[in-house]
Amino acid sequence: MFNDAPLSPNAGDHSFSPPADSILRRKDFLLGTATASYQIEGAIHEDGRLPSIWDTFSATPGKVLNGDTGEFACDHYHRWQADVELLSSLNVDGYRLSIAWPRVMDENGKPNRKGIDFYKTLLDGLKAKGLKTFVTLYHWDLPQYLEDRGGWLNRDTAYRFADYAELMSRELAGKVDAWMTLNEPWCSAFLGYASGHHAPGRTNIRYAPQAMHHLLLGHGLAVPILRKNDPGSQVGIVANVGRGTANTDSAADQRAAHLFEVQHNAWVLDPLLKKQIPQDLFELWPGAEPLVLEGDLETIGAPLDFLGLNYYFRTNVKSDGAHGFVEAPPAGVERTQMGWEVYPLGLQELLIGFHKTYPNLPPIYITENGMASDDQVVDGEVIDNQRLSFLNRHLAAVDTAAKAGVDIRGYFIWSLMDNFEWAFGYERRFGIVHVDYQTQKRTLKRSAQLVAKFLADRRAQS
Ligand code: NOJ
Repeated sequence: MFNDAPLSPNAGDHSFSPPADSILRRKDFLLGTATASYQIEGAIHEDGRLPSIWDTFSATPGKVLNGDTGEFACDHYHRWQADVELLSSLNVDGYRLSIAWPRVMDENGKPNRKGIDFYKTLLDGLKAKGLKTFVTLYHWDLPQYLEDRGGWLNRDTAYRFADYAELMSRELAGKVDAWMTLNEPWCSAFLGYASGHHAPGRTNIRYAPQAMHHLLLGHGLAVPILRKNDPGSQVGIVANVGRGTANTDSAADQRAAHLFEVQHNAWVLDPLLKKQIPQDLFELWPGAEPLVLEGDLETIGAPLDFLGLNYYFRTNVKSDGAHGFVEAPPAGVERTQMGWEVYPLGLQELLIGFHKTYPNLPPIYITENGMASDDQVVDGEVIDNQRLSFLNRHLAAVDTAAKAGVDIRGYFIWSLMDNFEWAFGYERRFGIVHVDYQTQKRTLKRSAQLVAKFLADRRAQS
């Protein structure tokens, strides 16, 4: 069942030189890096920014490794100009960032000019460097005042999200190449409301489908608003997708793998692309059906210009003997600092699978892919060979899927720089740029240097 992944972090190809016929060599294939507001900005008390659920959650003892919080993070709020220079030095085509909702709007819906101006100037800075701007509206930092009114369990939050989308698309029109409404609603709904690993840390499985429904409703309400206010830009959403494989060929394990993928992928993609909630979900969670009002699924299924997919790993599962699955982690496979299995084939299989399952699948951007490693600066250098090998193998998977007919337009490395990795704080380093949190010094890792070199050469070719 398992592929023979190399065991050593130093195994594999440590150059960055995609084959001559790779889609990566096409100048119109976008290669970028990604970040998110709470993970890099810091400055949580400045210029009228209001508290977010992640401020509350990370200040709660035991929720985040080492008690880390986003208070300072990469101090990007103050260092954004240098960070734009950094991005430009990497020769990337695009940059995916997110807006902190609590920076730009108060509890009465009143705009916060200083917060809005921060993003206006940042986007102008990026455009001045010729970068394509991909902007996520909601990358998990819900204003605490909305959580106090019930968060995503309250249907009203979807309408407040639409107001926020209205404000931002009016203010930032013309500066954004692509809008993404939500980042990984699966994480917001499941980790935030069922497992409690993420803010707001609630733990009732019955909450998760309702939270998901309101998140997707907020997305659906925002789509026509973004199109109306910023007609020159593209509108999409970002879903995290996971490959579930069966531990054995038994029907029970096959069913378990199917249910895993329903829970991770179809739960989000079916409402968006089929205007349906997959009913197999309630085999896993009997009685947890959300309240759905007439017309909601029509709203949620509004056509998209693109779909953003984030991929990290596969999960091998077996039947739990009842109506669910349990993990069956394979031994002897390559893993990252997160403990996640390196499994590029999963990306290829998912992309080709979605292409078959959803006849109306929009053009795809891989909006996140990358890995954490325990990177150290030694003599001024950071040699992140495992990351280079990881990127090469996943980009090869993207290329294979593209050659099989999937319309894939670009790929964003997660992440531009090391940052606040949610419940794992600063210990897990996903960046292609190393951050020293004491000095805020940025150091290009070997991966960043080689990607920059490849892109410079690609640009120079006629
Ligand atoms: C997905 C999330 O969007 C991002 O915020 C996170 O840091 C990465 N995955 C890595 O876990």
